[in-house]
Amino acid sequence: MAPLVVEGLARATDLVKLWEAADPEAALAGVAGDVGAIAVGGHVRADGAFLERFPKLQLVANFGVGYDAIDAAWAEAHGVVVTNTPGVLDEEVADTALGLVLATVRQLPAAERHLRAGKWIDGAFPLSHTLRGRTMGILGLGRIGKAVAKRAEAFGLTVIYHGRRQQQDVSYRYCPTLVGLAEACDILVVITPGGAETRNLVDAEVLKALGPTGILINVARGSVVDEDALVEALRSKTILGAGLDVFAEEPKVPPALLDLDHVVLLPHVGSASHHTRDAMGQLVVDNILCWQADRPPLTPVAETPWQGRYKAMAGTP
Ligand code: NAP
Ligand code: 8YV
Repeated sequence: MAPLVVEGLARATDLVKLWEAADPEAALAGVAGDVGAIAVGGHVRADGAFLERFPKLQLVANFGVGYDAIDAAWAEAHGVVVTNTPGVLDEEVADTALGLVLATVRQLPAAERHLRAGKWIDGAFPLSHTLRGRTMGILGLGRIGKAVAKRAEAFGLTVIYHGRRQQQDVSYRYCPTLVGLAEACDILVVITPGGAETRNLVDAEVLKALGPTGILINVARGSVVDEDALVEALRSKTILGAGLDVFAEEPKVPPALLDLDHVVLLPHVGSASHHTRDAMGQLVVDNILCWQADRPPLTPVAETPWQGRYKAMAGTP
């Protein structure tokens, strides 16, 4: 958990630092009956079986905008509010996405490896591909997707998108199917939420549609891309390359990806600047302080909208 969150909560609440406990299970057993709010981060799984151990639970504050690790449906069914950190990380994640696009298309990490290995003396690094005249397809034109689109426009790229519905207030062309989007673009940027609904959305068929000059960029969740199909598509040159910030089993990365030179790999650093992580942390703290003061949460997720009050405690009028 981020230091800003720990300090902010320790000042105002009776904070239990579960991650510091020598025996987390024993620590949990000792406090579970009293816990009213949980701050969760690092994509730690908080499913129904975990959450139901806290009979007085009223709030789960997630450190991150994506809350696929939290069972929001369980929370909704049990009157528990879930909050996340939307908006404060859009620009940072979009910067990372464009960094991945440039690094992948222009093969910048490989060029740097060439220099560091002393190979420049023996010959120039081979010519790369280009962004000139290219089309970017965005899968998930939400808050971050729109920040990616704005940057792509500045780079002279044509932007098109796919989501479950066409958006009336954007000028980018809508593709009603994901395969259609992949066929029509050169760079496919994935920035949807994770979870069951988007699992393996980018599969072998989509990668085939992206084609041998296509580049896949994933800054969403590893689960949105079928990782086996991606490895196969990269090995067989079904697609040209990929830039990945997220993986299905983080922090484990499929060894097959590590062996490939036409892939750029980042350790889930989309939002990982001091500035943005502090803004996210402050939002976690502020949501919990609101709960403590019996005020509405600042950023409840769609599944658990504010209903006017926190869940009544058992036995409390
Ligand atoms: P958002 O504003 O809710 O946007 C999500 C977009 O995904 C929406 O445009 C939505 O459009 C689309 N979408 C949702 N379900 C879909 C489906 N089944 N098929 C196609 N499109 C779908 O969320 P955001 O704030 O931009 O964040 C997006 C995600 O980025 C997060 O949930 C998180 O997983 C990921 N993220 C990653 C990092 C990182 O460090 N790499 C950092 C922050 C966030 P429709 O409703 O029209 O379908
Ligand atoms: C963080 C993220 O890496 O906000 C998200 O959904 O994936 C990232 O900003 C993560 O939430 C930190 O635990």
